[in-house]
Amino acid sequence: MEWTSLNDLRESYLNFFAGKGCLRHKSYPLIPQGDNSLLLIVAGMAPLKPYFTGQEVPPRKRMTTCQKCIRTGDIENVGKTARHGTFFEMLGNFSFGDYFKEEAIEWAWEYVTEVLKLPKDRLYVTVYQDDDEAEKIWHEKAGVPMDRITRMGKEDNFWEAGVDGPCGPCSEIYFDRGEKYGCGKPTCGVGCDCDRYMEFWNLVFTQYERHEDGTYTPLAQKNIDTGMGLERLAALMQGVDSIFDVDTVKAIRDKVCEIAGCEYGKEYKKDVSIRVITDHIRSVTFMAGDGVLPSNEGRGYVMRRLLRRAVRHGKLLGINGLFLKDIVKTVVDNSKHEYNELEEKYDYIVKLLSKEEANFNLTIDRGMKILEGYIDELTQKNEKVLDGEACFKLSDTYGFPIDLTREILEEKGFGVDEEGYNKAMQVQRETARAARGDSKYMGADETVFHKIDKEVTTQFTGYDRFEDDGVIDYLANDDDLIENAGCGDIVYIVAKKTPFYAESGGQAADTGVITTASGKAEVLDVQKVVGGKFAHKVRITEGAIAQGQQAHFAVDKTARLSTMRNHSCAHLLQAALRKVLGDHVHQAGQLVDRDRLRFDFSHFSAMTEEEIAKVESLVNKWIFSSLDIKMEEMPIAQAQKLGAMALFGEKYGEVVRVVTMGDGDETASIEFCGGTHLDNTSKIGLFKIVSESSVASGVRRIEAVTGSAIFKFLEENVSRLKEAARILKVNNPLEIVTRAEGVMSQIKALEKERDELASQIAEIRAKAMLENAVEVNGIKVVTAMIQNIRPDALRKMADEVKGNNPGMILVIAGVDGEKANIVCGCGKDTLARGAHAGKIVGKVAAITGGKGGGRPESAMAGVGDRFKIDEALDKVTEIIKEFVK
Ligand code: ALA
Repeated sequence: MEWTSLNDLRESYLNFFAGKGCLRHKSYPLIPQGDNSLLLIVAGMAPLKPYFTGQEVPPRKRMTTCQKCIRTGDIENVGKTARHGTFFEMLGNFSFGDYFKEEAIEWAWEYVTEVLKLPKDRLYVTVYQDDDEAEKIWHEKAGVPMDRITRMGKEDNFWEAGVDGPCGPCSEIYFDRGEKYGCGKPTCGVGCDCDRYMEFWNLVFTQYERHEDGTYTPLAQKNIDTGMGLERLAALMQGVDSIFDVDTVKAIRDKVCEIAGCEYGKEYKKDVSIRVITDHIRSVTFMAGDGVLPSNEGRGYVMRRLLRRAVRHGKLLGINGLFLKDIVKTVVDNSKHEYNELEEKYDYIVKLLSKEEANFNLTIDRGMKILEGYIDELTQKNEKVLDGEACFKLSDTYGFPIDLTREILEEKGFGVDEEGYNKAMQVQRETARAARGDSKYMGADETVFHKIDKEVTTQFTGYDRFEDDGVIDYLANDDDLIENAGCGDIVYIVAKKTPFYAESGGQAADTGVITTASGKAEVLDVQKVVGGKFAHKVRITEGAIAQGQQAHFAVDKTARLSTMRNHSCAHLLQAALRKVLGDHVHQAGQLVDRDRLRFDFSHFSAMTEEEIAKVESLVNKWIFSSLDIKMEEMPIAQAQKLGAMALFGEKYGEVVRVVTMGDGDETASIEFCGGTHLDNTSKIGLFKIVSESSVASGVRRIEAVTGSAIFKFLEENVSRLKEAARILKVNNPLEIVTRAEGVMSQIKALEKERDELASQIAEIRAKAMLENAVEVNGIKVVTAMIQNIRPDALRKMADEVKGNNPGMILVIAGVDGEKANIVCGCGKDTLARGAHAGKIVGKVAAITGGKGGGRPESAMAGVGDRFKIDEALDKVTEIIKEFVK
């Protein structure tokens, strides 16, 4: 066997099976499509489930893929051993009711022994205990000696996932790595826990369907699902001990060591951190490339957790500052050949991950402060263990990792209440599980549309027309297929051909009318259902309709035209955003319907006024340039060559639709898109951004209007201007600005005048107050209540006393709207006699239920109950006597 690089191995495998008639398909995205039973793709067969069950028709009955996979079940062990990883690539060949055991086994053997040239005397196979057929094929067709074939039980050789779905016995191929890897026990052999016999290829004969009650029935179609971990195979071919030594993975590992300034294989603790960073950054880079965003739930949480774990281990290695960027580059460089999305979205991936990294650094700083607070408390209470709730709160609420808490506490001689922590976590897990609910294996529950022949698909004819003739091929209510529906009924129509657009790609469904000889139905919604069928949800508004009737399908043209304007404009908007903001901008979601255009995109700060203006003007320039819009179907490779923008994590077929706006040098946009579009940009009319805001970390949203909606927008603005003109009493809206400026300066002048008057009044009031002063133990005491006075003016009065009236104490309550305050000012001489403004005002305010205090010479307090101010002021002399003896 010959040393082969991981990238060459992938190529060799896919090539080999393409030679056996398998359709070579690019890896599906990591985000499962139309399957909510999985957060992330975990096996090559996962994106192909509907083909196995026969729910959908595959593009070819034989396929081969190298699928990106993420499994996080073992996350705690990643790093600790060299065997575990979260990201891996799975090589697979699949048959959907086509070839079966014989070919699957013979081809696997041919590939292993003739292409990879693995020595036969180091290969072993296992079969399911009752699978005589497989054993016979291995022995008679492949020529594997009987003493190298082991029968194993259900535990090892029966592959199934979840409680129901396709499954079957499997056969595994093992490689003997040699005695030095063995445990030396006399029982050591295939299946032993030690490292000697390595399982590297699993062939599943998917011939049963498991039901929820645990019973099995044979599937109508027999399938093949095989899986071989590419990294594991590479380790074997490269004669190395672990996936972390495989060329492409080692490159990442080396980069980590370079940044950390350390060497791999010298110290166990450091190796753990190096492996964690290597594996996790690989995972999050691929996740980012498929459009996963870090968040606190679902797959976003998986991503956040992986990234944080990596950053945390970076700190353990003593790396300061942001370091992920360079590692991401190494990941991309090593995989971009097969996964071109990594290169295309490189800027975006780096920005997204770096921002999350920076945020996490802040989280750590904040968590450290909180933890230090806890440690102070423990020290004061003379305790040694931090309670579990507090530890859990640190990790759950503040994102501060428990292992960090544990470590810091240990360093300082404290510990974690592990039991309490686990309990708190358990409670949270159960809550989360309850919220998630149970999910079925296939993700998509049986619907009434599963009762229609799976070969039936709907052809969409509405790209270039708004009306078409067709047939009511199927009629259904929520429970069953039906034959008739009468006036008032809400039912579903499935037709083999329709001009109605089914909601997808963010474009809203068409509405309109379907008419037959006997009745009329209003189309409320159109959705894609299982197996490429469109279901029109309709309300029968006249007469009755029946299954099998000829029908006329008419889309609401005005609504559809508005939707098309918004959709075509969304393409121009994305192109303009990329020009103005940069290539990291990618569509993250959109909604285009008759009323609006809502476009979400990746970008990491709010757009400035200037940027918004630039984008608006660029889009409008393209509109006014009357660029032709072209829609074509082409092989995916050709579209990629044209540089067409694809959606993150979208599953595309072999043939795609591409929408091009403009020609040659004037090309404004090329996108993969299945939506409906205008034939010329000028038909958009005009474009105006209404708002720009944030929707999630790293995702911005633009809401905009086009065409007729702009007219509405203008009308609204004009009527608002007219209203303003009426209020400002000008006849011509154009005079509004001059009038508004005039009004504003008038207000300013009036305010100045008011302030002057207010201070004059205050002076007069102060004089009057002084005249009413009473004597308390030889000190002049002034008390008063003033209405409508702001706290700062009140404070000024107190300051005045302490400056100019050395022998006086002043206590004034001031009411300001709903609030009231009391100030106290003490002259210099009174201080010498024991007066203290802070204490006096505190006591007076307390009578009203208020609180406050301050310095000896002047202080202020808030009033509780305003109706107790009189009572409080009456007590002032008494209170002052307590201080001034
Ligand atoms: N689906 C099988 C596995 O994951 C091939 O092992």
